[in-house]
Amino acid sequence: MEEHDLMKQAVQALMSGMPKALRDPHRPAWHLAPSVGLLNDPNGFIQHNGVYHLFYQWNPLGCDHRNKCWGHWQSTDLVNWQHQPVALVPGACYDSHGCYSGSAVVADGKITLVYTGNVKYAEGSRTAYQCLAQENAQGGYDKLGPVLPLPAGYSGHVRDPKVWRHQDAWYMVLGARDLQDRGKVLLLRSDDLRSWQLRGEIAGSQLNGIGDFGYMWECPDLFTLDGVEVLICCPQGLEAQAERYLNVYQAGYFTGKLDYQRATFDHQDFHELDAGFEFYAPQTTLAEDGRRLLVGWMGVPEQDEDYHPTRQYGWIHTMTCPRELSLQNGKLYQQPARELQQLRGTSQQWQGAADSAPCLPVDSAELLLTPQGRFSANVGDAIVLDWDGALLRLTRNNLRDGQPEHRYWRGDLAHLQILFDHSSVEIFINHGEAVMSARYFPGPQPLLQLGGDAHLALEHWSLAPCMLE
Ligand code: FRU
Repeated sequence: MEEHDLMKQAVQALMSGMPKALRDPHRPAWHLAPSVGLLNDPNGFIQHNGVYHLFYQWNPLGCDHRNKCWGHWQSTDLVNWQHQPVALVPGACYDSHGCYSGSAVVADGKITLVYTGNVKYAEGSRTAYQCLAQENAQGGYDKLGPVLPLPAGYSGHVRDPKVWRHQDAWYMVLGARDLQDRGKVLLLRSDDLRSWQLRGEIAGSQLNGIGDFGYMWECPDLFTLDGVEVLICCPQGLEAQAERYLNVYQAGYFTGKLDYQRATFDHQDFHELDAGFEFYAPQTTLAEDGRRLLVGWMGVPEQDEDYHPTRQYGWIHTMTCPRELSLQNGKLYQQPARELQQLRGTSQQWQGAADSAPCLPVDSAELLLTPQGRFSANVGDAIVLDWDGALLRLTRNNLRDGQPEHRYWRGDLAHLQILFDHSSVEIFINHGEAVMSARYFPGPQPLLQLGGDAHLALEHWSLAPCMLE
């Protein structure tokens, strides 16, 4: 479709679709969601001159993975957001089948987007171009065209550039599937963002001693935290194990040491970033105050997307809340961005035996929980968290066949911080040692019912809606 035809149809989709989307009882109060249509990966997350910009993969015309544009929100506080002009619309010969994921940097004082132009051919093959677009005076983005075709030795699946500045050069990581169907992360270098040199594969399936590790790696992100390099990536094709790798595709990280000269990354084992049901394609940015912030997509490609009830209201998926990252004993910790405390209303505190705890409204709420002993927490019979002293288990009925499905975390449980927003829950374990993120679709005004013989200390807030204007 031509760019301007897609935009005409998007305007109509918004005009006719928004009243219905806003009536959906499962619409979040304070998480970012698409006005209409499908949202997937966060893109181009950056703070510039005090303003956060978050772009996102967006199909304005439907709840399927087509017509990928870059929507654009901005915020000064990570809580209240404003819609900006749609940044990228597919339709050029180098991005005809989608302006796929990418990142943002500031070059010559302007926000510059680096994204993947996805091109499909009639006979079924595809190619990908890494492309630039630059901020203009109207708050929109002008496409500058491709700067990198497919590198030799790879399939048409090379995408999701994440670019950063190191010393006197630009660096990019790209997700790739090679010609032997091995997922890889490529490192590239450039002096000017336009001419890129492939330096090598820094991680991947059958590299650095990790054996078979998936046929494609998507959405890499590489950054330094406390002097350690962290590589985030989303491998596809890992086999499910008893208590991990249970989603259709994974999102996780390696810590290690990147040698920029030799283009090698000496890394530790892979760890999943989230132990819940929905989490994928996260992206980080360095805030101006030095924090490393992360936003993820609270969805997973091809994971029962056809059965989400919000489709009847013409929209699907949300972002996670923004999270602050830190490294503690070599582990990546995630905590809700401190700005989210602005949403807290009046607080209610309670302690006693879990069995006699009050029922708590959790439409839009935050709960701090210090448990001693076994307990369970049931939200409107739509999702249940239980702790048996060794295993934390999250259970819901599968959207496709109604059968119970589980996700797990194992460790010493001391503290939980749980964020609820109509159809999502984010469970931060031990101040960020692990997180379980999930969508669930309860009846109206669900209550949280606690049970078990544990002694609990809890604090509860209802959370105010945030502004999205
Ligand atoms: C991850 C992903 C990316 C791609 C984008 C397309 O969810 O498949 O690899 O760029 O989505 O929307």
